[in-house]
Amino acid sequence: MKILVINGPNLNMLGIRERTIYGDKTYKDLLRYIKKCAKQLKVRVKVYQSNEEGKIITKIQRTINRYDGIIINAGAYTHTSIGILDALKSVMIPTVEVHLSNIYEREDFRKINFIKEYASKSIFGKGFEGYKEALEFFAK
Ligand code: DQA
Repeated sequence: MKILVINGPNLNMLGIRERTIYGDKTYKDLLRYIKKCAKQLKVRVKVYQSNEEGKIITKIQRTINRYDGIIINAGAYTHTSIGILDALKSVMIPTVEVHLSNIYEREDFRKINFIKEYASKSIFGKGFEGYKEALEFFAK
């Protein structure tokens, strides 16, 4: 079981950005957490972060024959990117989407979610633990 975790724009700013929403932990802390959980669950994991929509789309296209699952936190692109949705639909790899915050209890524009149209499961508002839950989905 080989999983690609994709983190979209501004997730590299964890620990600096809007700490009342996203917490004090840094992106490096998140990477360590994901790798620790993957090891415990005996799942192989690669983590990719990009601030650029096109790069995320290309990365998704290249998962064919390489990965068994995708975990994606598309950040702000969640609410805007039909391109990322179409890329996920193209590769047809099981996908779980994660959001650190509860996007349904924030501004109205965050309630628009294109990724959920494809994702098998959406996890939100659980902070780092959301990534663990997503890995568990694939470990089962
Ligand atoms: C986010 C929520 C998005 O609305 C926001 O644009 C992000 C992070 C989250 O993890 O809670 O960048 O995806």
